[in-house]
Amino acid sequence: MKTKLAQVIATALQDSLTIEEVEALLETPKHAQLGDVAFPCFILAKKYKKSPHTIASELAIKIHGTFIQEVRVENAYINVFYNQLQIAQDIVTQVLVQQSRYGTKEKNGQKVAIDFSSPNIAKPFSMGHLRSTVIGHALANIAEKQGYEANRINHLGDWGTQFGKLIVAYKLWGNKEAIEQNPITELLKIYVKFHDEAEQDDALNDQARQAFKALEDGNEEATALWKWFRDASLSEFNAIYSMLGVHFDSYNGEAFYNDKMQPVVEELTAKALLEQSDGAMVVKLEGMPPSLIMKKDGATLYATRDLAAAIYRYNTYQPAKVYYVVGNEQSLHFKQLFAVLQKMGHTWAANYEHIPFGMMLKDGKKMSTRKGKVVLLADVLRETIEAVTKNIEVKNPQLPNKAQVANEIGIGAVIFNDLKNDRMNDIEFSIEKMVTFEGETGPYVQYTNARIQTLLSKGHFELDAEPILRLDEEAWEIIKLLGTFPAVIETAFIQASPAVIAKFSLGLSRSFNKYYANTKFLTNDLQEKDRLKIANTVSILLEESLRLLGIKAPKEM
Ligand code: ARG
Repeated sequence: MKTKLAQVIATALQDSLTIEEVEALLETPKHAQLGDVAFPCFILAKKYKKSPHTIASELAIKIHGTFIQEVRVENAYINVFYNQLQIAQDIVTQVLVQQSRYGTKEKNGQKVAIDFSSPNIAKPFSMGHLRSTVIGHALANIAEKQGYEANRINHLGDWGTQFGKLIVAYKLWGNKEAIEQNPITELLKIYVKFHDEAEQDDALNDQARQAFKALEDGNEEATALWKWFRDASLSEFNAIYSMLGVHFDSYNGEAFYNDKMQPVVEELTAKALLEQSDGAMVVKLEGMPPSLIMKKDGATLYATRDLAAAIYRYNTYQPAKVYYVVGNEQSLHFKQLFAVLQKMGHTWAANYEHIPFGMMLKDGKKMSTRKGKVVLLADVLRETIEAVTKNIEVKNPQLPNKAQVANEIGIGAVIFNDLKNDRMNDIEFSIEKMVTFEGETGPYVQYTNARIQTLLSKGHFELDAEPILRLDEEAWEIIKLLGTFPAVIETAFIQASPAVIAKFSLGLSRSFNKYYANTKFLTNDLQEKDRLKIANTVSILLEESLRLLGIKAPKEM
């Protein structure tokens, strides 16, 4: 709509300003009585050598179009009132025809590779990994909606010296059955024990180094144990992914790059970038600490594997963009990684981006592995679902499919609580707050949608091709919001910010609920049909917003 108006204004100005320039200048008046959009004429004063008010007056008479109702001059501004019904007809018809494809761009043949979740084998799935999973999943959906192919990559932490320690620990104290029952808890237990014991007995560390060396060299026993730890951990992670409805195209983690690091080291050497420092090999960087590529004993590191992975991804996907959805505590690591790639002459690294995020807090404190006791994500999700189940028992005990709906609401609540905030903010994890049906919550958006669904079925709503013929004054807010949806998606993509969509869904819900509170919908006349059509468009975009965020939309709750 804004673009259309900008076109009209630019033409009236005989192209003194481009359409984009005009659009950027358009403002939303403080009060709706002043109009739908305002265009300030200050910057034209110099060019036309007239007062902004005179320019506004002269410009106003040249502004017309079927979608414009009235143009008023107010000091240096022209205030435009849209032809609300005409615009509503246009937008409502578009949404009803395109349904969930409204705002979807044509496939552009380009790829976005997204490295997200990426937990560490034999370690608990942390709240940071939950944030990465939820944000990365949403970003992948958003990229697809923008016409890209998304490649979802789980860069598992499945390699490194800790596996030597685990192998030694397992051989000394491991209990096969216990690990099979509870892989991550048990593996963590023996890992912690290893550290305690190694403090007294340094020989254990030597054994661990040897064990990791054996693993690197492909020793059969070491490899079999490693594979078992990995599979067992992965099956626990997969239980979480399936609760969250998340999938990956690749589980190529750090181990996958074991045989791909030598060529990188050679390339660094050939380009004379590797330097000795205290016996280790590093790449020196400007304005930041050097990147450590190889330890004294020849062992490679997290950074080395990320270098190999970055190059592999370029060769494999030829991606337009690569996102690393990882907590902001790793910012330096990614700055170094991208700087090394640039030094190597890989200018494509400019398309690689770290997508950082803040911490998850509980009662103001970092929510992480407490001493000896682990906050298991699966438990947290279960607790949330229980809280929702209690809510349902109070509000709607007759609800069919109670268990499934409680699941969809509980998990939706956790995801929405994460995504409604700008990702750099730390977020507070309060089950009680995030499951309420009122306020800025996922359940609130889901509830608004379910309410519309009930309304539609009570009104026996059937879609037809007729445009709406009436528009309540209170519905105009809704129409304006609906029209911004394509731009909302685009902004969410450009800023890599699912929060933009979450906020849209909250705004649309609020707007609809206000309308709904003051309007009788089921009047059994022609107006009913038009109102239900608008309700239907709201539901379509709420469901699509939730889908993009990775949240289910139950029809009844
Ligand atoms: N496994 C790492 C961790 O848990 C995250 C890996 C992120 N991805 C990457 N390519 N470095 O901290």
